[in-house]
Amino acid sequence: MVTKGNREILFSPCNLGSSTASNRLVAQPMERSASTPDGLPTPELVKEYVTLASGKWGILVLEAMTVSRKNKSRRGQLVIDDISKNRLAKMLEKMRKVAPRTKFIIQITFPGIIAGEGLEKTTILPGIHEQDPSIRLLSDEEICDIQSRFKQAIDISIEIGADGIDIKGCHGYLVVEFLRPMNTRSGPFGGSFQNRVRFFKDLFTHAKEVARATGRDDFVVGSRVSVTECMKGGFGTAGPDEYIEDLTEPLDYASLLEKWGADFMNVSAGIPAMMPEVTRPSKEVPWGIYNHFRLAKAVKNHLNKRRGTMSVIGSAYTMLGKDLISVAAKNIHDGAVDFVGLGRQTLADPLYPRKVKDLKDDKIQYCVGCNLCAKLLGRQQHVGCVHYDEKFKKILKRGNKNER
Ligand SMILES: Cc1cc2nc3c(=O)[nH]c(=O)nc-3n(C[C@H](O)[C@H](O)[C@H](O)COP(=O)(O)O)c2cc1C
Repeated sequence: MVTKGNREILFSPCNLGSSTASNRLVAQPMERSASTPDGLPTPELVKEYVTLASGKWGILVLEAMTVSRKNKSRRGQLVIDDISKNRLAKMLEKMRKVAPRTKFIIQITFPGIIAGEGLEKTTILPGIHEQDPSIRLLSDEEICDIQSRFKQAIDISIEIGADGIDIKGCHGYLVVEFLRPMNTRSGPFGGSFQNRVRFFKDLFTHAKEVARATGRDDFVVGSRVSVTECMKGGFGTAGPDEYIEDLTEPLDYASLLEKWGADFMNVSAGIPAMMPEVTRPSKEVPWGIYNHFRLAKAVKNHLNKRRGTMSVIGSAYTMLGKDLISVAAKNIHDGAVDFVGLGRQTLADPLYPRKVKDLKDDKIQYCVGCNLCAKLLGRQQHVGCVHYDEKFKKILKRGNKNER
């Protein structure tokens, strides 16, 4: 039921590390595959982000940006490095003008095997490489190089005035492979749990140190994590040959993140390239939403028991449509989650929070769950809402003609 109280809960402030988010609605990162070939934001992309910002989200996580211009998930992926930083800074400045109270967080990633057609696929897992030799196995030296690129991206995020960083540890991209029990790689990055979390530990320690040294104690540090990958030996199982979910390690990992100074964990699940419905529940398989609720609550309960202060962001609220307000408010009220994240809904209606706050529910464009945005991403075309925006209908059609 939608009540005044529900809205008050959604628009109540919430701690995020040493800073405060003005409301509980999070625009989840959504790759738009719309940068220049150099990985810079185009004027069109800047306009889209400024529109999204004007929705006045509590937190707006900018799409996954690659830390290496040689390795992209999609040809149109944004790059975060010394070449792109000034353009990213200008984009952030414009976003902040229309939404001075929103927390702008940059998500950083490295593609791994989830790289689109025609782009290099890499792995840290010898097992994957043996099954498919077209996937290149990375050496320890290359992993260290990638780690220093992540560190550089963190430094740049601080330098260009972002409010925080999200070290992407979800959805099957490279660095998620470290966490898996099936990561039996020899050397410093595989085997024991301690080795499997090493890559992340160094990054969090670095982020906190740089933030402190630059007087940015309010800089928000966190990670989006697929706490269960729903695959044999994946994160969220108890061993390389296990199928059955076991959240012991993901919960231990949540404790570690907090110990390393993380301010939030954005809880997600699955690998959308392999099992889309686990990550993004569909109209046909809507019960996936309950799986996300369960996982976020498990992390939240675990942190509560330890009197933890790290915030938990829940994922996949889009398919709730008109029920979103009441369900999200109940989950926050019950202490099952701190923030609620919306992915596809941000494309359908970037102004969602503003409309909810202003009681303009009749004006909301609800996501219809067609998943054509995901189809555009798969084809490495400019991503947007095909249902509500003629521009993206045309882009999709253009792709159809070109499809072999
Ligand atoms: C087109 C598209 C792009 C996405 N890009 C990202 C991304 O850059 N980073 C990320 O963590 N998740 C990404 N996701 C996943 C969404 O953030 C979200 O988790 C998913 O859509 C489920 O949430 P929803 O039901 O609210 O849409 C993407 C999903 C889609 C459909």
